[in-house]
Formats: sequence, C-alpha cells, structure tokens
Amino acid sequence: MNEATTLTVTHPTGKYDVLIGSNLLPRLRELAHISGPMVLITDSHVGPLHAARCGQADCVLTMPAGERHKTLATANSLYVQLLAAGVDRSGTVVALGGGVVGDVAGFVAATYMRGVAFVQCPTSLLAMVDASVGGKTGVDLPEGKNLVGAFKQPTAVLADIDTLQTLPSTEFAAGMAEVIKHGLLGHARLFADIENEGRRLPTASPARLQTLVSEAVRVKRQIVQEDPFEHGRRAVLNLGHTFAHAIEQVSQYHIGHGPAVAMGLVAAANLSARLAYCAPQLQTQIEQVLTAVNLPVRIPANLPPAALYQAMGSDKKKAAGQLRFILLQDIGHPLMVDSVPEKSVLATLGEVQG
Ligand SMILES: NC(=O)c1ccc[n+]([C@@H]2O[C@H](COP(=O)([O-])OP(=O)(O)OC[C@H]3O[C@@H](n4cnc5c(N)ncnc54)[C@H](O)[C@@H]3O)[C@@H](O)[C@H]2O)c1
Ligand SMILES: [Zn+2]
Repeated sequence: MNEATTLTVTHPTGKYDVLIGSNLLPRLRELAHISGPMVLITDSHVGPLHAARCGQADCVLTMPAGERHKTLATANSLYVQLLAAGVDRSGTVVALGGGVVGDVAGFVAATYMRGVAFVQCPTSLLAMVDASVGGKTGVDLPEGKNLVGAFKQPTAVLADIDTLQTLPSTEFAAGMAEVIKHGLLGHARLFADIENEGRRLPTASPARLQTLVSEAVRVKRQIVQEDPFEHGRRAVLNLGHTFAHAIEQVSQYHIGHGPAVAMGLVAAANLSARLAYCAPQLQTQIEQVLTAVNLPVRIPANLPPAALYQAMGSDKKKAAGQLRFILLQDIGHPLMVDSVPEKSVLATLGEVQG
C-alpha cells in the first residue's frame, strides 16, 4: 500500500495537515491527534457505509443526506444531540461525508459552545479536492446557498481514498469538474494528465486517485494560503462559477453543481477567447477533457440567455454592481475581469447552448 501524502496548509492562526491515502479512517484518532471525546457527524448515505471504519468514535450523529438539509434546522438538531451526549469544549467534531456534511459539521464545530476542535474526513471527490480545504463552513437559507457561515479551520483533514469506491459515478464526475477547474487554475500537468487518462480515471487504482486528489489539493492549498479570508486572489476559485450558479438557479436546481461547473468552464473559455484573452482552441481542449469524464459541455437550450444573465446579477460574487468574471489567458493563468460587456456575455451564452 502506498504511503499517505501529507500536505500542510498554513493559515493566519496556525496550520494543519491534509493526509491523502488508503486505510486512514481506522487510524483516525491517532492520525488526527484526537485525545478527548470524538463525535462523528455523518449523513444517512455515508454513515452506514463508512462510520464503522472510523476508529473509536464516542458517538455518531447522522443527518439526512442532501443539500436541502444543509440548514440551520439541521445545525440546531446537531447542537441538541451534542448537548444530550454531554459533549463539552474538550470534544472534537469529525465530519465524515461530502461537502454538505463538512459545511454543516464545520459550522456546528465553529459555534457549539463558541467553538470546539474540528476534523474533516471528506468522502466525496468534491469534498476531498475542494470543500474540506480552506476553512469555509456554513449552511443555506431559503433565500440562497451558503448565506450563513463561519471560517473554521480544521485541525486535520483525512481524505481516505478507499471511500471513493462507494461514491456514485455521477458524484465522481461532479468532483472531476472541480479537479479540472483546479488543473486550469494552477496545474498544467494535472490538466494534461486528465487529458491523457480521461475515461480511465473513474476506475483508476487507489494509488492513482491518491495522486490526482493530492495534485488538485495542492492547487487549492496554494490559493487559500495566499488569501485565507477571500479578500482577493481566492476569487479565482470561482472560475466557471458565475455561469454555474446561474445555470443551477435558472434550471431550478435540476442541474447539479458539478455539471453546471462543467458548462461554466466552457462558457468561461468561450468568453475569454471572445474578449481576446486566450486562443479559441482552449475551449475545445476543455470540452474534450470534460466529455471524457462524462460531464456536459453545452447549456441546455431551454435556459434562456437573458434569464441566465439576470441570475448572474443576483449572485453574491458581484463586485460593486459590476459583473466579475474569472477568465483564462491560458492553462494555469487565470485573471479577474470586472467590467465585461453584457453583449459579450449574452453572445457566449448563445454560443455554448445546445
Ligand atoms: N466549504 C467550501 O469551501 C466548499 C467548497 C465547495 C463546495 N462546498 C459545498 O459542498 C457541497 C457539495 O459537496 P458534495 O458534492 O460532496 O455533496 P454531498 O455532500 O451532498 O455529497 C454528494 C452525495 O454523495 C453522497 N456521498 C458522499 N460520499 C460518499 C461515499 N463515499 N459513498 C457513497 N455516497 C457518498 C452523499 O451522501 C450525497 O448524497 C455543497 O453544499 C457546496 O456548497 C463547500
Ligand atoms: Zn464549485
């Protein structure tokens, strides 16, 4: 068995290790240096599959699976269960699950008794490469996603690659959208590797998945270390996301985040070429990679460009009343552009529909 990869993330108040490898969960206490009471928070899909493998949890709390449960009501129910279990400030909350569990459990850890220690055990590809690193936690409101939250740095992140064996293939593809985004942002080799392996990746060996996840985490680490509180540079992580959030919203969330990001990456490349920041071939190159991992590359024709454009205006990532886009000069060279003409965005939306 391969040795785990350790990537240390530094943040304003300290640092933590992200461990990526096989068979980590049985050694959770030891690897995450947990000495006091340990409470596992998981969801109704992941709990039955993986909770028993997590070494010596004192108590397991299970939330219903799914984004619609990423709410204050779920957080409230968890607070009550923590109290009933007698957990005090010496306890550690461990999130075992995808990004939804990580975000809710992290928010609970940030706020329960003004904060208890927090460990992330991401089990979806998306949570491994994106949600579990960087310290953002939170819940949704009926008015929108992630509107209430806190920065809560974990004391350790354990990405046990073995858990990916039970991840549904559509969820694997969704995570690949963020892996590809990370390749485009900062890692030409990661992108080239995905180009070469494409269709074989979902069934790749644990060792290969370990490398893939590690390389994607390296990109995220670099960016969050430069901008821990999202004041500037971290915005590049929104590559494709201004489009994606509008696509999710206008489709009334029938299109999930991963597929929407895939469409958004194509649109971002199209817009970048239209505004002469990059060569038009970049869009083709991105489409080939996304197609190889079973992600869509066209926005469904039933989502009108005007409605999508309007939805972008309501996205909270708007800077001072102007639409901000993360565009690409090339692979590994994103840039932030603050005043993109409406007609260019509409032309792009029209062109990437199909
Ligand atoms: N905090 C951040 O920086 C950050 C970054 C990106 C995304 N997010 C958040 O992450 C969430 C999306 O994360 P996600 O895609 O992991 O969604 P998710 O947590 O809903 O997981 C997707 C589905 O896969 C299931 N699942 C997870 N791991 C599994 C496994 N190993 N085996 C079988 N089933 C498994 C889950 O139960 C769920 O049904 C969103 O709420 C998003 O806002 C947060
Ligand atoms: Zn995303």
